[in-house]
Amino acid sequence: MLDRILTVRVDRITRLTSEVAAFEFVHPWGGTLPGYRAGAHIDVHLPGGFVRPYSLAWAPQGASATRYVIGVKREPASRGGSASLHERVRKGDLLAISTPRNTFPLHPEAAHHLLLAGGIGLTPLLAMAQQLACDGAAFTLCVFARSRAHLAFAGELAALTPSIRLHVDDPAAPQKLDLASLLAHRPEGTHLYLCGPAGFMQAALAHAAHWPDEAVHLEYFAPPDNAADAGHDEPFVLVLARRGLEVKVAADQTAVEALHELGIDVSTSCEQGVCGTCVVGWQDGERGGTPDQSATERRTQVALCCSRAKSGVLTIDL
Ligand code: FES
Repeated sequence: MLDRILTVRVDRITRLTSEVAAFEFVHPWGGTLPGYRAGAHIDVHLPGGFVRPYSLAWAPQGASATRYVIGVKREPASRGGSASLHERVRKGDLLAISTPRNTFPLHPEAAHHLLLAGGIGLTPLLAMAQQLACDGAAFTLCVFARSRAHLAFAGELAALTPSIRLHVDDPAAPQKLDLASLLAHRPEGTHLYLCGPAGFMQAALAHAAHWPDEAVHLEYFAPPDNAADAGHDEPFVLVLARRGLEVKVAADQTAVEALHELGIDVSTSCEQGVCGTCVVGWQDGERGGTPDQSATERRTQVALCCSRAKSGVLTIDL
């Protein structure tokens, strides 16, 4: 769970909308950066001591990369991450980042890829769409935005025509997409990928409830309102199966904090169950406390920053 930390230089900052800016990072001395796969994200260490995960917005370039691009929306209720980037980071600054990590990969076995992006949730799906276009794979990218003025990466999206469908809320706009109709029928072999705000994700998941779990893939960039569910605030026992250890997690502690007390290092980033930095394999015990995931992820993963045992004991692959 220890990531390699890289130093990158901020090469360009481009304002994409009134709220969103693209930050481009390069190797500080002109070298190359580690390659990644579409859907990957990096943890960015920000002024003020914040560490935040951001998806990489452009398709991978192969075994190595010449630049990483992230799209960051300045959130009005920012806890420090987006505000720190927008207000304190300037061209030429050096930043520490993690190597790319991918918890939201494409599934090459899909006959068709349906990518649904809400707002700045577009970033990982843009990388996926560019990759699929490059590979000649069948895909549709549906982008939901408040208005054309709120649409980030508009130039990159235009280059993906005709596989793009755009929905804007602006009542005067002719384009409207209906989530219910989009998801009512699942063409054989289609995989669905979702990224966007919690309300958008919940609505899409409700309309895709009849899709098989293994064909639905999610990435949250903020936890849904119901992320902390039953089991929170109760002490529990965390069983580390590979170490043969039982760790008591107090009611006011996270599993990460309990493990750190024992000297067991666990990297964290979002601390909200969203980024996947602290995820380990699940073995036994019902868990709660994290945002909705696909049933497959729920069965196989535990986010140590916020997962808790619902019935007293949680066994993990650690
Ligand atoms: S630190 Fe992001 S999921 Fe745990």
